[in-house]
Amino acid sequence: MKNILITGGAGFIGSNFVRYLLQTDPDVRIINLDALTYAGSLENLRDLPDPDRHDFIRGDICDQQLVRRLLEEREIELVVHFAAESHVDRSILGPGEFIRTNIQGTFTLLEALRHYRRSSPGRDVHFHHISTDEVYGSLEKGEPAFTESTPLAPSSPYAASKAASDHLVRAYFQTYGLPVTITNCSNNYGPYQFPEKLIPLMILNARSGRALPIYGDGQQIRDWLYVEDHCQAIWKVIQRSRPGETYNVGGGNQPTNLEIVREICATLDELLPDSEYLPHFGLVEHVEDRPGHDRRYAVDISKITRELGWKPQTSLQQGLRDTVVWYLEHPDWIAGISAKGEYQSWVEENYQKRDRQ
Ligand code: NAD
Ligand code: TYD
Repeated sequence: MKNILITGGAGFIGSNFVRYLLQTDPDVRIINLDALTYAGSLENLRDLPDPDRHDFIRGDICDQQLVRRLLEEREIELVVHFAAESHVDRSILGPGEFIRTNIQGTFTLLEALRHYRRSSPGRDVHFHHISTDEVYGSLEKGEPAFTESTPLAPSSPYAASKAASDHLVRAYFQTYGLPVTITNCSNNYGPYQFPEKLIPLMILNARSGRALPIYGDGQQIRDWLYVEDHCQAIWKVIQRSRPGETYNVGGGNQPTNLEIVREICATLDELLPDSEYLPHFGLVEHVEDRPGHDRRYAVDISKITRELGWKPQTSLQQGLRDTVVWYLEHPDWIAGISAKGEYQSWVEENYQKRDRQ
């Protein structure tokens, strides 16, 4: 059995990765370290395949003693690092926690690995860092997509904290020779995404007849990656990449936010023909823009395709449809989030003060 420490494995992508890995590799044992912030939930880890190979530990990645103890006692061979504060709008309203978790937390993990290596020579724990395309900043229309050598130019406190963590990970490879790999992926979507992000927020609001808040003109462009495709890419990089390498991962599409919302609404119109809110797109409301809003992201995936043979399998249309269906079929999961109260206060804090336009 290979012992794997996954950080942030109760969040959106982390929980999908836990599920994917238990299904894909019978020889892994997962130790899942997660602080269960507002974004993490044990509900995301219900009904895991082969749950005996998964241990959940509630804890903070900034807790150096805990991380060192886990590395030693659980004889960890691989760390897959998802834990982060991940929402741009929250980083605008309160950046402090992003600096703590994303920078200090990543530093704590790297330091723990450096010490572990010194105290246990020959134990080279592979560290895989999950990062974002947002570290590269914003593209103008027509500019070429981000490659792995695009200079980092983050716009939001979130992106800046992720860029800082990427720099630290690289530095620990260059300086101490820690065996690290990094993936910078585009916007993920799919099951278990917390409904503060565009796609689940729009599905839940539309289903309940609430306004669909589009920031600014809605012409911003993202590259959307279905979460299961992302999980496959991560596992491929971990298994096949040389230490020190970075790979961009993207879904290969360039819709505007309004096009995404239009597609979600059309799917809801079709799946809920008796809804009192038809057509759902009529619920769209343009609201005050996000400060520092990146206009366009686009990810060049030629390196991972050429070197590791990975490319996304799920079309945007199919992925969006599967996602809408998943949210419609999981009212209990949604009710669990709504019941916490934190979600409602976030919605009020982020949206009530935004002027309609
Ligand atoms: P998420 O917000 O859904 O989950 C984050 C998880 O980390 C939660 O379970 C939370 O409890 C945990 N966590 C937060 N602070 C912690 C701490 N101090 N100690 C331990 N656990 C802590 O995030 P996500 O969308 O699943 O993103 C996972 C990773 O992927 C992040 O590093 C993020 O930057 C990156 N990423 C996400 C996207 C996306 O579209 N969601 C895109 C690119 C990159
Ligand atoms: P989001 O899902 O927060 O991801 P990111 O900011 O990391 O790309 O937002 C995706 C896009 O959708 C982004 O351009 C902001 C926009 N957006 C809205 O227009 N309205 C909203 O209510 C939200 C949450 C996002």
